[in-house]
Amino acid sequence: MRVLVTGAAGSLGRTVCPGLVAAGHEVVGLDLVPAPDGTTFAWHEADCADADAVEAVLAAEHLDAVVHLAGFPDEASLPTELTSHVVTTAALLDAMLAHRVPRMVYASSNHAVGRTPRADGELTEHALPRPDTYYGVAKVAAEALLQLFVDRHGIDAVACRIGSFLEQPGTVRALSTWLSPGDAVRMVLAALTAPSPGYAVLHGISANTRGWWDLEPGRRLGYEPQDDAEAYAAEVVARAEDEDEARFVGGPFALERFHRPALGG
Ligand SMILES: NC(=O)c1ccc[n+]([C@@H]2O[C@H](COP(=O)([O-])OP(=O)(O)OC[C@H]3O[C@@H](n4cnc5c(N)ncnc54)[C@H](O)[C@@H]3O)[C@@H](O)[C@H]2O)c1
Repeated sequence: MRVLVTGAAGSLGRTVCPGLVAAGHEVVGLDLVPAPDGTTFAWHEADCADADAVEAVLAAEHLDAVVHLAGFPDEASLPTELTSHVVTTAALLDAMLAHRVPRMVYASSNHAVGRTPRADGELTEHALPRPDTYYGVAKVAAEALLQLFVDRHGIDAVACRIGSFLEQPGTVRALSTWLSPGDAVRMVLAALTAPSPGYAVLHGISANTRGWWDLEPGRRLGYEPQDDAEAYAAEVVARAEDEDEARFVGGPFALERFHRPALGG
């Protein structure tokens, strides 16, 4: 497949792009910043929130799918979050329709359901939207946009609710929520190639012994995680905040220190 990867210079992008190439896919990278040294595939320096720029990229490339990883992965004001996650997704979806690109794999987040209490038990893909931050609100809205385009236009879209993408887990929470680099590639490959998923949600985590997010939705799409954060448990140092971070799906983002005005800086 010929795949546009947005946010290709980012933390996930720098793992996913070579993984797709190794699996035999043709990658086209897109980011706000220039291609990292040594990049061997096509690259567009563009802002995904700029609909004209996105349209020009999709007109120039003949794509089979878009893996949308571009976005600010942290808390900011509501307008900033909506631009970063919803407007970018909208610009890509509009251009995908215009150029008949049939699938998007989207880097959504656990923070779309981050205020779901741990005490509710296993987290399923049917959890109601329950964001913990404006970041989470924007991920909810981006997922809703995907669902709308699937229902209206018959494209396929897989929203990957990613946990903690890291080389290795560094906190007690991450022993449950870790997504390893190898599993990140496996997740994107499955979401790209699953036959006719329509709109689907999966949990982007590894096969962590301490995980409590249902892995079945991913397995139904062919995502079989191979790594387990438990292998690093002995290296993780307990902290005073671990107990608070364990109360909600979103961990630290669900805590009071993230409270701020919606339209503030
Ligand atoms: N890293 C995680 O643990 C995690 C967890 C849940 C969800 N996610 C989501 O995965 C995606 C990637 O996260 P990451 O950790 O790689 O973040 P990152 O900040 O390392 O990389 C994001 C990349 O996107 C680019 N970018 C940002 N806005 C852009 C725009 N408007 N147009 C073009 N490029 C833009 C940045 O320049 C950067 O290279 C984000 O959408 C994030 O919300 C990440």
